[in-house]
Amino acid sequence: MENQVYDKLVRCYESIRSQIPFTPKVALVLGSGLGDYADGIEVEGSIDYHSIEGFPVSTVPGHKGRFIFGRVNGVPTVIMQGRVHYYEGYAMTDVVLPIRLMKMMGAEILFLTNAAGGVNYDFAAGDFMIIRDQIACMVPSPLIGPNLDELGPRFPDMSQIYDKELRDIIKECAAKRNIKVQEGVYVQFTGPAYESPQEVKVSRILGGDAVGMSTACEAVAANHMGMKICGISCISNLACGMTDQPLSHQEVQETADRVAPLFKQLVTDSITEFGKRM
Ligand code: HPA
Repeated sequence: MENQVYDKLVRCYESIRSQIPFTPKVALVLGSGLGDYADGIEVEGSIDYHSIEGFPVSTVPGHKGRFIFGRVNGVPTVIMQGRVHYYEGYAMTDVVLPIRLMKMMGAEILFLTNAAGGVNYDFAAGDFMIIRDQIACMVPSPLIGPNLDELGPRFPDMSQIYDKELRDIIKECAAKRNIKVQEGVYVQFTGPAYESPQEVKVSRILGGDAVGMSTACEAVAANHMGMKICGISCISNLACGMTDQPLSHQEVQETADRVAPLFKQLVTDSITEFGKRM
């Protein structure tokens, strides 16, 4: 049966394949602070989102978005430099299209990173949180609509979205470098406004530890396709209402940039271990 979402996916996939024949093992999504991660790896090629037919690209001037193909200590990795957010106005199926494409290219492991606000009072700005589970809070599922049977089942199991083995490897890597890591539940809101203090409180009551505007929908789409998923949030700030200070994007960016070197180290070590053990 004809399906616009699937047809677009296939078109984009063929466009990528005609440009680069690369089979990744790991797909890495770069969040705030990690934007220049690819500078430190062995790059084999890249594709601008603009050059992929039908790909959802931001109309914001200066927006940089591309797939980078390379090796992280030998592990073939496709990197998303610039993700697509629901708050930009795209359909949820477009938001997760790049994730689906990376699986179609061959990636078995999805490594999600982001900046997030800490909801848990035990967290501090600059902490890293390994994502254990998630809550999509008033964010629609990317799986709504006719099921794409080519990708996965109608009612996918979500009992272990974030793979325990991957989480354990990340923890080991962090311990070896003496990098402190928290573990917790990521709550996705739509944004683009930061949450109100009451929304932050509700997140905490629901069992959330961090809030952000990405990631959970990507993990749902990847889980549907059977990928092994892991994620790390850089806690760039305590969420709204937890301090006397108003929250600004500048504060988020500054903290993410400050801890970026450690974050990159942890990501590199983890991918290297995934390559050896998975
Ligand atoms: N809320 C939502 N998204 C975020 C935050 C936050 O406090 N910090 C960084 N991204």
